[in-house]
Amino acid sequence: MKLSTRMEAALNEQIALEGNASSIYLAMAAWCETQALAGCAAFFYAQSDEERGHMLKILHYIVEVDGVVKVPALKEPKASYDSIQHVFEQVYEEEKKVTAAIYNLLSISEAENDHATALFLQWYVAEQREEEAQIRTILDKVKLIGTGGQSLFFIDQELDKINATKAATATTAE
Ligand code: FEO
Repeated sequence: MKLSTRMEAALNEQIALEGNASSIYLAMAAWCETQALAGCAAFFYAQSDEERGHMLKILHYIVEVDGVVKVPALKEPKASYDSIQHVFEQVYEEEKKVTAAIYNLLSISEAENDHATALFLQWYVAEQREEEAQIRTILDKVKLIGTGGQSLFFIDQELDKINATKAATATTAE
């Protein structure tokens, strides 16, 4: 079944959103690295790759259902941030925006009676639930640990632990 024009346009908008998230996280990774926050940097480099993966998954889906892919120009993300708490607050806002966009896509697929796309989007619904929960947990920890040099050290260690857990989960899932 071919994609409707409305569904195709909405999925292409999602490609842009995921691609922009990938760019934003790449910029955050670079900023963290300049702040000697290696754990945070590793987290964002991996997160940027994940977002690119989300973008590609939609791109391949559009091709599979005989639609036309529009690869967007990316917006230039911010190069610097006030604090690591500020970074995670922005990430949380970004993820909430992505979740809202996925829900909107799902509503469109239902309105268009497009069961294939509705089924395809279920993966994103679950992924967004996990991503939002993860970022909220990190943000809570960042707030709890507080600010200052020593605090940054502990925050970075926490991110290292999260990176290790994610890497172990990915290996188990392979
Ligand atoms: Fe692909 Fe984090 O949204």
